[in-house]
Amino acid sequence: MPHPHPLEPLSAAEVQRAVELLRATPEFTPTVRVISVMLKEPSKTLVHAWPDIPPPARQAEAVLHDNARNACFHVEIDLAGGTTTPPRYAPPGSQPTMSADEQVECEQAVLASPEFRAALEKHYGIADTSLVMVDIWSAGNYGTEEDRTRRLARPLCFLRKDATDNGYVRPIEGIRPVVDLNRMEVIRVEEYGTWPLPPKSGNYSASRVPNQRRDIKPLSITQPEGPSFSLTGNQMSWQNWNFVIGFNAREGLTLHHVRYQDQGRDRSILYRASLTEMVVPYGDPAPQQARKNAFDVGEYGMGMCANSLRLGCDCLGHIVYLDGHLCDSRGGLLTIPNAICIHEEDFGILWKHTDRRLPDAPEVRRSRRLVVSSVSTVENYEYGFFWYFYQDGNIQFEIKLTGVLSLGALHPGEKSPYGAEIAPQLYAPNHQHFFNARLDFDLDGAANTVQRIDVEADAAGERNPFENAFQAKATSLVSEKQARGHLKLETARTWRIVNPSVKNAAGEAVGYKFLPGDNAFPFASPNAWWRKRAGFVNHHVWVTPYAADERYAAGDYPNQSAGGDGLSRWTEADRAVDDTDVVFWYTFGHTHIPRPEDYPVMPAAYIGFLLKPNGFFAMNPANDLPPSAPAAGKTSCCK
Ligand code: NI
Repeated sequence: MPHPHPLEPLSAAEVQRAVELLRATPEFTPTVRVISVMLKEPSKTLVHAWPDIPPPARQAEAVLHDNARNACFHVEIDLAGGTTTPPRYAPPGSQPTMSADEQVECEQAVLASPEFRAALEKHYGIADTSLVMVDIWSAGNYGTEEDRTRRLARPLCFLRKDATDNGYVRPIEGIRPVVDLNRMEVIRVEEYGTWPLPPKSGNYSASRVPNQRRDIKPLSITQPEGPSFSLTGNQMSWQNWNFVIGFNAREGLTLHHVRYQDQGRDRSILYRASLTEMVVPYGDPAPQQARKNAFDVGEYGMGMCANSLRLGCDCLGHIVYLDGHLCDSRGGLLTIPNAICIHEEDFGILWKHTDRRLPDAPEVRRSRRLVVSSVSTVENYEYGFFWYFYQDGNIQFEIKLTGVLSLGALHPGEKSPYGAEIAPQLYAPNHQHFFNARLDFDLDGAANTVQRIDVEADAAGERNPFENAFQAKATSLVSEKQARGHLKLETARTWRIVNPSVKNAAGEAVGYKFLPGDNAFPFASPNAWWRKRAGFVNHHVWVTPYAADERYAAGDYPNQSAGGDGLSRWTEADRAVDDTDVVFWYTFGHTHIPRPEDYPVMPAAYIGFLLKPNGFFAMNPANDLPPSAPAAGKTSCCK
C-alpha cells in the first residue's frame, strides 16, 4: 500500500501548519482557545478510488472557542493550499469539549478563590490549600438560564493528607465551587453541609504499599525474530489484515479502512470504527451528588486524556508505539508520546481436534491476536481501549475500566442506600458507564444491510413432534426507526451486517455478525437531565445511512447541551437503511455497584463486543495455520 494513506492522522508538522493558518485568520484573537485540530477526512469516494488516483489533498478541521464572546466555531483548513474556510459558528450556547489547559487553569482558579478558601476554613479549619485537589467536572445543564448559557465547570475537590497521598479517599463533600471557564474565575461556592474527612488513608502506589507479595517470578515474552506485523506510518499490516490507525483529541484511538486479504482478494470490512461518546451518570439523589454525570468523550476528549504508555507496564512483548499529535488550547503542539501501543499476544487455543484413529492426533493451533490499544485518564477514572484482531477473522473491541472510584464522605454512622461504604466514612455512589461505538461497515463494498437475528422455538405440531425445533430468523432493517433495538436474551439476539450483492460459496449474502457483550438499561428516568442529553442510551442498536457529519452519538456539542441531538434526532427522519452505505451504532452500559474490592484502586472491569465473520469466508480462514514450533527441549509442541 502506498504511503501515506489518505486517512492517516495529522502529523506533528501538519498540526503546526494548521495552527499557523488558523492564527492568520481574523477570528484568531488572543481570547480564542483551540479545542481540537484533526484530520478532515477526505470523502469516501476519493479514499476508495485511491491509490489509482493521486492522494487527496490533506485537510484539517479545527474546533475553536472564543472566551470573550462565549462563541464556538469550526474551521476547515487546506494544508497544501494554505487556505481556511470562514468560521462556521455552533448554535449560540454550544460548549465544545473542555481543554486540558482549562482543567489546569480551573484548578488554579479554585485554589486562588477567596470564597473557596473561606468555605474550606469554615468547614474544615484549613487555611492551606496546597494539598487540595480540584477535578474539573462538567456542569451539565442545570440551574438558571444564565448557568446554562455560560461556559461552566462544577469541580469536585479532595484533600490529600500529604504530597503523595491518594487524595480521592478524602473528598471535600460539602463544597462545590462553580467556575466560569470563560472568565476563569469562581462565580460561587455552593455549600451543602460539613462532612468530616474520612479517617483512613487508601493508597496504592508502590512506594506506599508495604509488604508487597514476593512470590512472583519473571514472565518474559520474547520474539527473537521480531513481531509478525509491519507498520508503515500508521498503516498496519498483520497476517491477512490491513488497516489504518487513527488518533484524535475527541475520540482517541480510531480504526480506518479495515481490510482482509482473502485468497488474494483485498476485501473491505470496516471503513471506520470509533468510540463516539460515553456518559457516566451517578445514582445518588443527595444534593451534592445528584448532578454528577460526565460525557467523557464530548466533554473531556478521550485523545486529549490519553496516557503515554510504558513498556513492560502497560504492554508486554515486542511493542511498537505510535505518538498522538494534538494541540494545546493556545495552539502549541501537544504530542503524546507512545499514545498507542501495538503488539501481539498469545491467546490460548484457536482450534483443536483429536481424531483417535490418526497417528498425528491431536491437531491444535494456538491463537495469536494483534492488539492495538490506548488508555485515557479522565481525572479519577481510567479507560483502556483495546482493539483485537484474530486469525479467524474476528475483531473485538474491549474497554477496560479501572482507576479510582468517584468517592463521597459519610458522617460517622451514616449509611446510604445509593452506594457502598468501602472504608470508614467513605462511600462510592452507584453509577453506570454508557459507551457508544460507531461502526461504519463497508463489507465488500459500501452498500450493506443490517439484519436482526432472533432465535425462536417452533410451535409444537406435526412438523415438530418432539418439540425440540428452533431456528434463527433474520429481519432486515430497512428504516432508521425500525432499526432501533435492544438486546433480547429470550431470542439470543444478535445482528448481522450483509452485502446483498456479494454472495458466498453457499449462494448467500456475505456477512459479519455483531455479537453484543455485557450491557444494561439506564436506571435514571427519561426525564433526568443527563438522559435528555444522551438520547443514544435509549436503544442499544441504531442504524443510520452514512452521513459524513454524523459522527458523535450525542451530537457535536454535548457539553452543557439541553439535549435532543445526535442519534435520537437524526433517526427521527426515518431514512432508508437497506442496501445502502450503513453505519451501525452500538450503545453498551456497565452498571457499577461498587465493592470494597474496588478500593483504593479498581481491578479492571471489561466490556465490549465482537465482530465475527458469518458467511464472509468460504471456510475457517484459520485452517491454514501451521502448528506452533516446539518448545525448547520437546520434539513436538503437543507431546
Ligand atoms: Ni465505575
